[in-house]
Amino acid sequence: HPHVLYRDDQLFVDQVPAAQLAEQFGTPLFVYSKAAMLDALAAYQRGFAGRRAQICYAMKANSSLAILQVFAQAGCGFDIVSAGELARVQAAGGDLSKVIFSGVGKTRAEMRQALQLGIGCFNVESESELEVLNEVALSLQVQAPVSIRVNPNVDPKTHPYISTGLKGNKFGVAHDRAVQTYQRAAGLPGLRVVGIDCHIGSQITQVDPYLDAMDRILDLVEAIEQAGVPIHHIDFGGGLGINYNGDTPPEADALWARLLAKLDARGFGQRQLMIEPGRSLVGNAGICLTEVLYLKPGEQKNFCIVDAAMNDLPRPAMYEAFHGIVPVQASRAQATLYDVVGPVCESGDWIGRERALAVQPGDQLAVLSAGAYCMSMSSNYNTRGRLAEVLVDEAGAHLIRRRETAQDTFALENLLPA
Ligand code: LLP
Repeated sequence: HPHVLYRDDQLFVDQVPAAQLAEQFGTPLFVYSKAAMLDALAAYQRGFAGRRAQICYAMKANSSLAILQVFAQAGCGFDIVSAGELARVQAAGGDLSKVIFSGVGKTRAEMRQALQLGIGCFNVESESELEVLNEVALSLQVQAPVSIRVNPNVDPKTHPYISTGLKGNKFGVAHDRAVQTYQRAAGLPGLRVVGIDCHIGSQITQVDPYLDAMDRILDLVEAIEQAGVPIHHIDFGGGLGINYNGDTPPEADALWARLLAKLDARGFGQRQLMIEPGRSLVGNAGICLTEVLYLKPGEQKNFCIVDAAMNDLPRPAMYEAFHGIVPVQASRAQATLYDVVGPVCESGDWIGRERALAVQPGDQLAVLSAGAYCMSMSSNYNTRGRLAEVLVDEAGAHLIRRRETAQDTFALENLLPA
């Protein structure tokens, strides 16, 4: 990986030794490479060269303000799913006209707030949401720009918890009901139909599901326009996977070369495009530095107990996800197989299983591919403060979030009256 790599025996993030970051900011610690994020973005930008396309970073992957700032400054819009995420876009100085609002459960208050701020598009997920959005817009005497999320019913061939475009899913409007739903939307005075969107799942590593979904969406655009409703933009969602453990997803530019060829062949090459990538922009730009606390040899297993845990890195516990784990200081000593686990009181608190490591207490490890869906899904379980975050910008390291103290974790609580 060009931004997280060994020089001699030392792990570096760009030009900064990981050991120095651990020393300066303490562990456990999230560290992100700004250059890695911009490289990942550049692959999409190359793919869309000469096209009309807007990249809306799906900020649920990692919504730390400085990260949003990097993407905002690079020209990205944002895909949001809550008023909280909308407030983050504002705080980071993002362009509100480039915000799209996804999610199956938008509240009236969230709709009102987003309409007042003038976001670019609501990605509506159901017929009843359309009706409510229409009412809210009329009450504010505005028109809400809408796209309808359609469910293309293709199998993204990924983990069942993160595949979203199949029939049995809670997301989107069924393919067969799409034309009707668009006709309804076009007849509602508080709505202005601007686009169509889909999102078939996450950590997708194959091109075919995307090609199939594109065909299904283009079929619908043709049918909807024939029914008299013009579609200005096509939002193709996110979902492109990253390499966690020898995965071989296509590069973003290679994927889009295939998809654009299809768009061209079907006469949609000049359509305004939008995408909502999350993981592929930040996942491999981040690591989590953690210190080995104890080694606990056992009859069946050896445990390597580290100071990061499932509340900081929930993906293994939630999805049995794999994250690479490497030493900050490489060693030539004999390796032993360990389950790498955290201090949380649950058997599900593991970060890696059966990893060959040559480590001693006090050594530091780096959990790889920790830029996406780690910090943003972390919790205070066991009253563990959330981690500090550092953004490496070439040779500089910026603390972009300080470590939570115990007091921070209960600052919103009240004791009962005496
Ligand atoms: N657009 C919509 C409507 C989405 O629901 C998502 C992700 C994205 C875009 C961005 O997808 P990405 O490019 O990041 O794959 N927590 C899980 C992943 C959940 C994804 C949810 N939706 C994980 O850690 O693997």
